[in-house]
Amino acid sequence: MKASVFSSKELFSNHLFLRRLLKNTGRMISVKSFKFEDLTLNQSVNLQPLPDPATLFFGQVFSDHMLKIEWTESNGWGQPQITPLHYLPMHPGSKVLHYAQAVFEGMKAFKRLDSKVALFRPELNMKRLLASAERASLPSFDCEELLKCIKKLISVDLRCVPADGKSSLYIRPTYIGSENSLGVSPSKSALLYVVTCPSGPYFKTGLTQPVSLLADPNYVRACPGGAGAYKLAANYAPSLYVQKLAQEQGLDQVLWLYGKDHQVCEAGAMNVFFLLKKESGQLELVTPPLDGTILPGVTRQSVLDLARNWKEFDVSERNIVMQELINLNKEKRLLEMFICGTACTLCPVNLIRFRGNDIKIPTMGSGNAMYLRFLKAITDIQYGRVESNWSVPIN
Ligand SMILES: Cc1ncc(COP(=O)(O)O)c(C=O)c1O
Repeated sequence: MKASVFSSKELFSNHLFLRRLLKNTGRMISVKSFKFEDLTLNQSVNLQPLPDPATLFFGQVFSDHMLKIEWTESNGWGQPQITPLHYLPMHPGSKVLHYAQAVFEGMKAFKRLDSKVALFRPELNMKRLLASAERASLPSFDCEELLKCIKKLISVDLRCVPADGKSSLYIRPTYIGSENSLGVSPSKSALLYVVTCPSGPYFKTGLTQPVSLLADPNYVRACPGGAGAYKLAANYAPSLYVQKLAQEQGLDQVLWLYGKDHQVCEAGAMNVFFLLKKESGQLELVTPPLDGTILPGVTRQSVLDLARNWKEFDVSERNIVMQELINLNKEKRLLEMFICGTACTLCPVNLIRFRGNDIKIPTMGSGNAMYLRFLKAITDIQYGRVESNWSVPIN
């Protein structure tokens, strides 16, 4: 069992995890924040041609406008500004460039069947951004005020939200320490900004093509007491090297392990799920617990919430180690594996390479296709084919 950065009660409950965030950093304490009502808008006169949704991949085309809000220790928060997208003037000694004092979020806006544009559970992203900011020693803000500013940004670039029922507008809130000083200390100035990208599928192979994973115990993504539960930019650069090792072996992504017993953590920048058959014959959906090494994914939470609501099988947030997976697979009790996150939504896994052996996972031929059921349930809500309060219209 990994050592935990949270108390034992918090370990297995994302609700408690979020309550902790709220209590420590949210609106329950008075937060000095920028205000939506102070927002200024400088509209672009040079709108770019809209891309054909069929040619869109992930995060390559940017919308016409951005949101930015500056903070300084002496003056606090400035006015939120929506401006034409522009380069940021940056001193080469800025803290973010040296010590990676940077956190970010990833969320999406969808054009729904009723033609409204809506976000998916955006309050969870706001709380996670605030938690990440706290971990990176960046100043607090009011989540609701930021969400209102983001909704306004999307409404200014409404024409950039793809309307094909498959693509979406990817939204990237980013928060950096901008002070130009080389001391290793919290920045005395910061910039919170948001850019958006009309986006297609994350994997070029599409949504339902299975992916293969390299599980190399020589590398870890996060460790107990570290910052893996937060979206710190610094968590991602070291993963690129291991991702390259996976690709050199013809595999798609990395399956992150931790500890001598090779606990499964996450895959690439996604959470992982397994569908198993227990010895009793009962089905169990398993995902690793939020023990401080796992990012509390919005998609992960949504899969858990749906599964618990369906009440058709056991749902467990528990550790699962490589040997258990190998045994289950031999006994034909490992039925499905899938990975999930905002960028890809949900993607099946068909192979894990571990210590030179390929574990072939029958996700695609299991007959259950549970991953497809989750994918449909989530995308139906996102595109407004099914009513849900998880879909939050921007106006
Ligand atoms: C490390 C990591 N794990 C999991 C996820 C999935 O989280 P979400 O479903 O909120 O996108 C992400 C993406 O944000 C991530 O970067």
